[in-house]
Amino acid sequence: MELDPRRLAMLREMGLRLLPPGRDDGPAPAAAPEAEIALVAAAPPELPAEAPAGSGTDDRTAAIATLDWEALAAAVAGCRACGLCESRRNTVLGVGPARADWMVVGEAPGEQEDLRGEPFVGPAGQLLDNMLRALGLDRRRNVYIANVLKCRPPGNRNPQPDEVARCEPFLRRQVALVQPRVILAMGRFAVQSLLQSQEPIGRLRGRVHAWQGVPLVVTYHPAYLLRNLPDKAKAWADLCLAADLMDGGAP
Ligand code: URA
Repeated sequence: MELDPRRLAMLREMGLRLLPPGRDDGPAPAAAPEAEIALVAAAPPELPAEAPAGSGTDDRTAAIATLDWEALAAAVAGCRACGLCESRRNTVLGVGPARADWMVVGEAPGEQEDLRGEPFVGPAGQLLDNMLRALGLDRRRNVYIANVLKCRPPGNRNPQPDEVARCEPFLRRQVALVQPRVILAMGRFAVQSLLQSQEPIGRLRGRVHAWQGVPLVVTYHPAYLLRNLPDKAKAWADLCLAADLMDGGAP
């Protein structure tokens, strides 16, 4: 079977090796980057207190849904809605252009991300960048990367339901501002919390879901792939599904 250049590049990138840091043999940028989002913003906006759980859309959620990028960055940087604010060093809003066709959603910042204030900057992030590069995607240029949680859970423990609930309005606003044409949800935690499902990734991948009206493709977390090399082939198939969707080829 003839493989097109994108699939060949993806096979190469996912071929059980990582490119050395700093090496970039991906396609040259086709266009100037869109405006990058300022990570440091002004004073946080006053947000109404959150309504009790289960009482529907509260005022805080409604207020977050109106924020522009600058106000959103400030709101996240000043957020004290859950206990994670006590232990974080930095909030991690996201990285990428203000508008992008592709959006990646992971779980939560880890130690490196908490230190640097940027998602996916450790070894898993390097693999993610290599996978994205095979699709001609670059976090500085044409893919926006965020997490379900904006603060690091201490010791990288699993996020708690109340932490997810308080952070979710921020992710919803990010999606509304970025206006992606496809969301790639990476890892069991991100997938299960976005899709409100307890199904394992193996049962959810391979088809197109939706979140906030945006087509969503499920795949493995890059940190998992670093430990489970054979599943890289499945992740490659997931990326192809998302790429086909962008090309108008998938259901
Ligand atoms: N894992 C994630 O899910 N997100 C990050 O930003 C880093 C590691």
